[in-house]
Amino acid sequence: RIPQFVKIVEVGPRDGLQNEKHIVPTAVKVELIKMLVSSGLPIVEATSFVSPKWVPQLADANDVMEGIRNVEGARFPVLTPNLKGFEAAVAAGAKEVAIFASASESFSKSNINCSIEESLHRYREVADAARKHSLPVRGYVSCVVGCPIEGMVPASNVAYVAKELYSMGCSEISLGDTIGVGTPGTVIPMLESVVNVVPIENLAVHFHDTYGQALANILVSLQMGIGTVDSSVSGLGGCPYAKGASGNVATEDVVYMLNGIGVKTNVDLEKLMLAGDFISKHLGRPSASKVAIALRKV
Ligand code: HMG
Ligand code: MG
Repeated sequence: RIPQFVKIVEVGPRDGLQNEKHIVPTAVKVELIKMLVSSGLPIVEATSFVSPKWVPQLADANDVMEGIRNVEGARFPVLTPNLKGFEAAVAAGAKEVAIFASASESFSKSNINCSIEESLHRYREVADAARKHSLPVRGYVSCVVGCPIEGMVPASNVAYVAKELYSMGCSEISLGDTIGVGTPGTVIPMLESVVNVVPIENLAVHFHDTYGQALANILVSLQMGIGTVDSSVSGLGGCPYAKGASGNVATEDVVYMLNGIGVKTNVDLEKLMLAGDFISKHLGRPSASKVAIALRKV
């Protein structure tokens, strides 16, 4: 049942860096993206066209897009929270965008300052505009298992938001365990309720490794037939100052596991680790990828 090829969506330059306290220079972001592309990653989420007051780290979105204008070999989707962001993204040359809703009302309010319904209304506008430009739209659902404010999130809420995003035209829906609390015990029933309303080939999974459950959750998702996995080089993401917080599952760890079970990704692990070395050196802390740490000792 496990797909023979898994498409990895690298989210490090966006999800990974968005929480970094110290502003990473544009040139470092651009070099990181180039190294990720040369490792064979087919999709690298490059940045977000969000309010610079909300996410100061990504205020250089235009410059990042300029820096990768001539980079070939990968797709570079960007996050757009509203029409304003969509128009800025298109003007900067984006060929693909992503919208991001939440399955939790409280998280929606804290992340994008509006209710779930209001966000779906905004996203429908973005999706309509994208259709006019013939641009593909990815839809995220965050807090698919738990919410930092509300606790457990019912699977029916996740299915509702996923279905709305699908029906407004999203070609892919990425299900995000934003705070990494899921285990196969909660992830499987959540996926079962989503596959009732969105075709499995249109689904992706997005795990954070906060509780060390990400690879187990990815494996059960693959066993259910999901073929797209989000991850972040070096496990970038989360807040480095919050005790116990951690980032997205590390791309190196995902590639190592997929290599081990014979699933193709087209990613060269050694080249990927060079990208991980580069950004870890810049950030001045060790990689959060167990595989990178282990292989660098060999
Ligand atoms: P708001 O304050 O309610 O917006 O923010 P507003 O419409 O009232 O506008 C306020 C100001 O923002 C105005 O500027 C607007 O022009 C400006 P001012 O007049 O004060 O100078 N503004 C913008 N500027 C640039 N680009 C824009 C934009 N829109 C308005 N697109 C808003 C609402 C949605 C804009 C804000 O809350 C925001 O930017 N949020 C983004 C937060 C974010 O990026 N979070 C992280 C991504 S989600 C995630 O990480 C989860 C995921 O990884 C999956 C998972 O892990 O589960 C995807
Ligand atoms: Mg995330």
